[in-house]
Amino acid sequence: MSAQPSPLPSPLSSTAWEERYQAGTPRWDLGQPAPAFKTLLESASAPQPGSAIVLGAGRGHDAIFFAQHGFAVTAVDFAPSAIQALDEQAQAHNRSLRLLERDIFGLVPEFAGQFDYAIEHTCFCAIDPALRPAYVELVADLLVPGGELLAVFFTHRRSGGPPFGTTPAEVRQLFEPHFEIISLEPVANSVPSRQGEEHFGRLRKR
Ligand SMILES: C[S@@+](CC[C@H](N)C(=O)[O-])C[C@H]1O[C@@H](n2cnc3c(N)ncnc32)[C@H](O)[C@@H]1O
Repeated sequence: MSAQPSPLPSPLSSTAWEERYQAGTPRWDLGQPAPAFKTLLESASAPQPGSAIVLGAGRGHDAIFFAQHGFAVTAVDFAPSAIQALDEQAQAHNRSLRLLERDIFGLVPEFAGQFDYAIEHTCFCAIDPALRPAYVELVADLLVPGGELLAVFFTHRRSGGPPFGTTPAEVRQLFEPHFEIISLEPVANSVPSRQGEEHFGRLRKR
């Protein structure tokens, strides 16, 4: 009997993400924190520093930025090269972050109720859309009561993915059972390639 070829990895698996990092083509990587987070942390309504978990943190530009603003940051990604790059960046910026090379969907119960904030930037759009209800449950489980999700949602309208786009209506429908939507607005200062395709949301766990 001839050997069966092993199945190709799903484009959403850790193997596939790791291959993208190793190929050196992380076209989602802005090389800087999301402009919406810069606006938030420099505004009069900036959240008070606290414990924060960054989901699908990639090379960590957002994670390090929040750490620089006094947040105690845990950064999670299941691609080893992303975590390694994040570790190097954190050291270069002289910041101490807790790094977890883990699948976000395996964080509960271990990390349940441990965070004042969850930080989202192009992780929601990188998972299978069928897992979005599970993502909402996950974020709610990770947060303390009254904790906040600070999220840049990729609201592009192209079909397929990743990145899989969403809409403000879908965000409201998915999150409202567990979260009060404090704000959900178009981002005014997105990078040129994402102009008109991002919404920033501040959502408080009920
Ligand atoms: C589009 S990239 C965004 C990375 C980073 N947030 C940024 O903006 O540069 C999506 C990231 O989520 C990670 N990721 C996707 N699904 C994941 C999962 N289930 N658990 C952990 N990390 C995941 C990928 O490895 C990848 O680094």
